[in-house]
Amino acid sequence: MSEGSGLVKGLEGVVAAETALCDLDGAGGRLAYRGYDIAELARQATYEEVAHILWRGELPARAQLDGFTAELIAARPIPEPLLAAFRLLPKTVDPMRALQLSASLLGAFDPDAADNSAEANFRKALRLTSQLATAICAHHRIRLGKDPAPPSKDLGHSANFLFMLTGERPSPVNVRAFDASLILYAEHEMNASTFTTRVIASTLSDMHSAVAGGIGAIKGSLHGGAGEAVMRTLQEIGTVENVDAFVERALAQKRRLMGFGHRVYRGGDPRAAVLHGLAEEACRQSGQGMWFEMAVKLHEQVNRAKGLIPNVDFYSAPLFYALGIPVDLFTPVIVAGRIAGWTAHLLEQYQDNRLIRPRGHYTGPGRRPFVPLEKR
Ligand code: ACO
Repeated sequence: MSEGSGLVKGLEGVVAAETALCDLDGAGGRLAYRGYDIAELARQATYEEVAHILWRGELPARAQLDGFTAELIAARPIPEPLLAAFRLLPKTVDPMRALQLSASLLGAFDPDAADNSAEANFRKALRLTSQLATAICAHHRIRLGKDPAPPSKDLGHSANFLFMLTGERPSPVNVRAFDASLILYAEHEMNASTFTTRVIASTLSDMHSAVAGGIGAIKGSLHGGAGEAVMRTLQEIGTVENVDAFVERALAQKRRLMGFGHRVYRGGDPRAAVLHGLAEEACRQSGQGMWFEMAVKLHEQVNRAKGLIPNVDFYSAPLFYALGIPVDLFTPVIVAGRIAGWTAHLLEQYQDNRLIRPRGHYTGPGRRPFVPLEKR
């Protein structure tokens, strides 16, 4: 496009779709899924209930929840060829690459793979949510040279995740904290990865392809990859006493501080406020209060010096670490939460689709004649 550009760099502030899923008030620092405040959901709901709200619109009644939970449990196993593929991968492979491969391969075995009807997509959303959790844990254990821990038939979604990761039944307090963090990650309006999934679906491609694209988008350090980067920063700092010198150095080097800043929230990210409390409890209970104290000091110093707010990925880092999640699994865990939101957006996109096809503002050379090879 060469006439009047109308360029909005980074699509800041551009409204790209209608959605009934997530009410994000950036100025007020408030966030609700279908009208339910996220702090209340993190405190009282389960991830299964949140997935039901996102996909079906309402909180499930007891009998609905029982049936829905049974379907999620039944969908947990992953096909043997996916486990075989994990065994063929280099042990050093980035777990996000293994996860992206999982989304594609699960599509190859999904009975509804090419069916974009609402009911088929609901079934795929449910299967992907259960199966990606299994895939993350199975790949992790295989890369450690262990056998995968088969999914439980009775534990809830989050308890089962921690069980499949470690092979041991997790404590109720760890399950609660992990479940709350999956809830906080479940949905976030038109963020980069969700937008990616919607762009892919808008071509009438299928849900597994859209999710594989979303996984590629979320892994970058400006998006979900920031959580892992926060933990690596805390490890680099090493002790609470080193925070001041680190911040001074980082500011002098104009370094981008991971876990800080947000495109939409100005006053504060409401998810970070909830995660702050969860991280404090988990760090103290696991005898790793140092990471929390370091994070709080870093937050204070960066906020004072640059006015930057911590985003969702800041306090989730010490929280996940205290829960025993390996640092390179932080982003896969974020996907394990976000899958419910991605797939809910995909249900919306297929329901009221129009190809997403923006324009580019052309800045290259003017028209010129082609020069044959022998004359160049
Ligand atoms: N560290 C240092 N400076 C920052 C940071 C940061 N984390 N965030 C923003 N800034 C500064 C920029 O340098 C820029 O300053 P300038 O105008 O003097 O050049 C200004 O604030 C605006 O920054 P942009 O990058 O243009 O803001 P944008 O809205 O595009 O980016 C983003 C938002 C990507 C989240 C940014 O704040 C960032 O890079 N944060 C660190 C990575 C991170 O934590 N990402 C996870 C975000 S949550 C999620 O998953 C989407």
